[in-house]
Amino acid sequence: MKIRLVRGSHETARGDLLAVALPEGRIPAPLKKLDRRLGNLLSAAIRRKEISGKPGDMLYLSAPGLPVKHVLFVGIGKPEDLTLDRVRQAAGRAARAAQDRGLARISTDIADLRVKEASPGDLVQAVSEGVHLAAYRFEKYKSEKKNGKPPLDLVMLIFAKTPPRGSAGAADRGRLISRAVLWARDLISHPSSDMTPRDMAGEARAMARRRRKVSVRVLGRDALRRLKMGGILGVGRGSDEPPCLIVAEYRGRRGRPVALVGKTVTFDTGGISIKPSAGMDQMKDDMSGGAAVLATIQAAADLRLPVRLIGILPAVENMPSGRAYKPGDVLKTMSGRTIEVLNTDAEGRLILADAIHYATTLKPELIVDVATLTGACSVAVGNRAIAMMGTDRTAMDALKEAGELTGERVWELPLWEEYEDLIKSDVADCKNIGDRSAGTIVGGIFLKPFAGKVPWVHLDIASTAWTEKDLPYVPKGAAGIAVRLLMRYIEKRKGVKA
Ligand code: BES
Ligand code: ZN
Ligand code: ZN
Repeated sequence: MKIRLVRGSHETARGDLLAVALPEGRIPAPLKKLDRRLGNLLSAAIRRKEISGKPGDMLYLSAPGLPVKHVLFVGIGKPEDLTLDRVRQAAGRAARAAQDRGLARISTDIADLRVKEASPGDLVQAVSEGVHLAAYRFEKYKSEKKNGKPPLDLVMLIFAKTPPRGSAGAADRGRLISRAVLWARDLISHPSSDMTPRDMAGEARAMARRRRKVSVRVLGRDALRRLKMGGILGVGRGSDEPPCLIVAEYRGRRGRPVALVGKTVTFDTGGISIKPSAGMDQMKDDMSGGAAVLATIQAAADLRLPVRLIGILPAVENMPSGRAYKPGDVLKTMSGRTIEVLNTDAEGRLILADAIHYATTLKPELIVDVATLTGACSVAVGNRAIAMMGTDRTAMDALKEAGELTGERVWELPLWEEYEDLIKSDVADCKNIGDRSAGTIVGGIFLKPFAGKVPWVHLDIASTAWTEKDLPYVPKGAAGIAVRLLMRYIEKRKGVKA
């Protein structure tokens, strides 16, 4: 898909569809003119209350009097409440509507939109992301593609005069970041049998091969043994697919890195503490954290950000078998800390324990881990937020802000030391589950000591990694969550200039 910046107006717009943002309240002057050209069909629909401009409202019309074939009004809510994410959502809805109808070329006019504290470039980037992300389909395993309809292939952004400076760059940033998100969605959507730990390592290597300043190392079982990574080795024992630790580095500058750790359980059966079979298929998404980390490294390299990032992916398949680890087992992690395993389904924290400790040996400024860690996350914050915990106030505040701008919102949960009692073990330094309470917090409490003194943030994406129904720019299935959040955060860190 291409984004093109063009000069013109509603009246000269070309293509199969003109998508127009409709605010709630009074019809703005430029739309009145368009309404007249459409035989007042818009004002009539508003009078009949068929559309009011609320987010999600849509009105599709044929446009015999215009060069463009059809017009789609998309509600964006009250102008004073407009956010970048509402713009992204409206762009996504328009893209989806066009694609469902087999309309390949759309025009849209965003010059009159105003978002508090956002530059014209931010708006262009949001539209670019919205259309790219919404048009995604995973069709690798379908014999018949695209429902026979042409895919959306051109989006023209109309400006009355010369497009504001930086618009072309912003459109391209949106494209490159979206491409990384879609890659993450692809990795997650693959059946686990085609996306094993070894396959993930292969994907990381292929990404690095095509990029400057990106390198990948993969530590196999022998290396994991030498490093005494009992957590990863323990969880990986039950599977015929060998575990590994994937280390991907992007060197956009020298100096201390930011370490991104991503849970990469390519399939989570629960192990001996096996999960119920209904819905177990979704556990192919248990590597969403790792996918987000690799995609963030790709995007940072594509945007040539002046940052140093190290992605660390503990990759395993969690299976029951004659060799599998069992409840009651004690695992000794790389840090020396021992863990009593009371549930083999709380495996993510066991592999992250080693990966986070390994990260500390690289002397990073900050460690951020991203993980589909707890089902309880759906209870705590539902599918509207990523649960965040950590020890670095500045980083958490900045991530919160990045979440508002990207629409990948984070909500902080506490790590009060009183919670530590929940994971005291009779036989080891800690146990891997608590009681029924505070499931998501217990995940964070468990991980905290493995970061040692290094500033650390934990993002639990268990409730946002997969969507059961279509969202404005996230089709049903893998969301590719956290890539845009991390990118925005990294770009803004210490005023790194994008
Ligand atoms: N991968 C799951 C978490 C999960 C569950 C993600 C549902 C998305 C949807 C994780 O490994 C797990 O099974 N966690 C257990 C922990 C429990 C045993 C303490 C859980 O949440 O039930
Ligand atoms: Zn599990
Ligand atoms: Zn899991």
